[in-house]
Amino acid sequence: MTHQTNHSRRRFLQTSAAGAAFAALPGLSAATGSSLLRKATPGFNADVEIEFSAQTSQVRVFADGPATRVQTYSASLLKGPASTLRTLPDNYLGPILNLQQGQKVRIFFNNRLQEPSIIHWHGLHVPQHSDGHPMYSIQPGEQYVYEFEVLNRAGTSLYHSHAHDLTAEQVYRGLAGLIVVNDADEAKLDLPRGEFDLPLVIQDRRFDERNQLQYLQAMPERMMGFLGDTILVNGKPQAEFNVKSRAYRFRAVNGSNSRIYKLGWDDGTPLTAIGTDAGLLAQPETRPYIMLAPGERVDLWLDFSGRAVGTRLTLNSLAYSGALPGMHGGMGMMHGKLAQGAKFPIAAFKVSEKVADSPKLPKTLVPLQRLSEANVDNRDNPIPIALSIRHMRPLLNGLSFSMDRVMDYEKVALGSIKKIRIFHDHGGADGQHSGGMGMGRMGGMRGGAESDRRGMGGMGGMMMEMAHPIHLHGQQYQILSRNGANTKAADYATVKDGFIDSGWKDTVLVMPGEEVNIIKPFQDYKGLFLYHCHNLEHEDLGMMRQYYIG
Ligand code: C2O
Ligand code: CU
Ligand code: CU
Repeated sequence: MTHQTNHSRRRFLQTSAAGAAFAALPGLSAATGSSLLRKATPGFNADVEIEFSAQTSQVRVFADGPATRVQTYSASLLKGPASTLRTLPDNYLGPILNLQQGQKVRIFFNNRLQEPSIIHWHGLHVPQHSDGHPMYSIQPGEQYVYEFEVLNRAGTSLYHSHAHDLTAEQVYRGLAGLIVVNDADEAKLDLPRGEFDLPLVIQDRRFDERNQLQYLQAMPERMMGFLGDTILVNGKPQAEFNVKSRAYRFRAVNGSNSRIYKLGWDDGTPLTAIGTDAGLLAQPETRPYIMLAPGERVDLWLDFSGRAVGTRLTLNSLAYSGALPGMHGGMGMMHGKLAQGAKFPIAAFKVSEKVADSPKLPKTLVPLQRLSEANVDNRDNPIPIALSIRHMRPLLNGLSFSMDRVMDYEKVALGSIKKIRIFHDHGGADGQHSGGMGMGRMGGMRGGAESDRRGMGGMGGMMMEMAHPIHLHGQQYQILSRNGANTKAADYATVKDGFIDSGWKDTVLVMPGEEVNIIKPFQDYKGLFLYHCHNLEHEDLGMMRQYYIG
């Protein structure tokens, strides 16, 4: 594990203190002290206080052979309900964090690794200082204090490392965990609880013959994203759940670096979702299969009622195609046995006990206000998120991440609701747009029509299109529309029925050729909030930018 952290926090402070762009960002200028380290605020009366630490450790992933060296979070509860933390024994996943809407939470994070790190609470809507922006990465031995109120509705989220340049590898080595938020609306519903409400954290890994994690280093593979050949559920291989003949809630989280799952039962039974990223749906949705990209969550209603004792069902990732269509010449083969889009089992469910009753699937779940174009103030000039890969660099609007830069179209007025257009950018492969889609063109945010005109033209030899799960920090958004007209129809047909777009989202899978329009409120918090590809190799390669909300 050797890392070159070419932007340590301190170096960032040095360079940006001199830079003009830095001074233009009020959210940052407040932090131009000697350090970005944050201490507890006396006026913040926490309901819940937790001490988190990240360290290396040995855990038993496999029943046989040596233990596996991992990086892992551990936590202890200093204050608050005992149910706040649920530790998974002998597991690299961090403890499950159970929060209640309205709680004030303070978290002390101690970095006991040999490298910088910081935690991001993916899905939680928190102030900039508690969002785990990589500028807050702390050095070994340092402590960072998070303070936030739980504003989220009931739902499933996750926390993970967001260390600058090291996110992918640290998450890969174990630095992630599940977050459950409960609220009063959810409590009114007869949903499965307790032992019937279970995590389903899905990850893929590669192990050597000594049970040690293998990560990639080489460039072409890094560009495509890490794909492992061993599927782990809740930190263990060959997951099997003994279930009773009744309904369960399984909180499925894709905690993989780049693998996209197509969840489906082996016997063709449809799947029912009651929630998506960080929130319950207005009503359940039943689909033949459900797509789950890195960073996405889906709360599944799995009903084993009426199944005979002894029944064994397998939840698979079903075959699909097109996530890597721009790759000619079989580069997909580089990933070894388990290609992106291959079919494989994820977990088995064995009905082991017959029980008389089960909650019934509610017809409606929670009130959910659908946002429309009437709610936004930029209907005709959406904020662009152009996805491209040039010269082995995945980019957003032609740009790489830069800690202290925000383009004009990335400055958003606090309180506004914006339309954001996510699309693939095929404009010139000659590097001439490396200044960012020709920002003159995008200036004033009139980019929509221009980009349309350039459209699918100019498919140069460098053009390479992949599926990208696009995650925006801060408040959840809604999917306004998807346009698959420029996708390859045969490929798109293998995935398109698996997108659940009716609820609140913070991560959306954008297939090659696809355009997705979203509506995102920017309320409550000023400051810098990231948006990036949640293919974690892409994120670390710079496919990340930030909004300045002010
Ligand atoms: Cu789950 Cu910015 O990430
Ligand atoms: Cu996030
Ligand atoms: Cu990507």
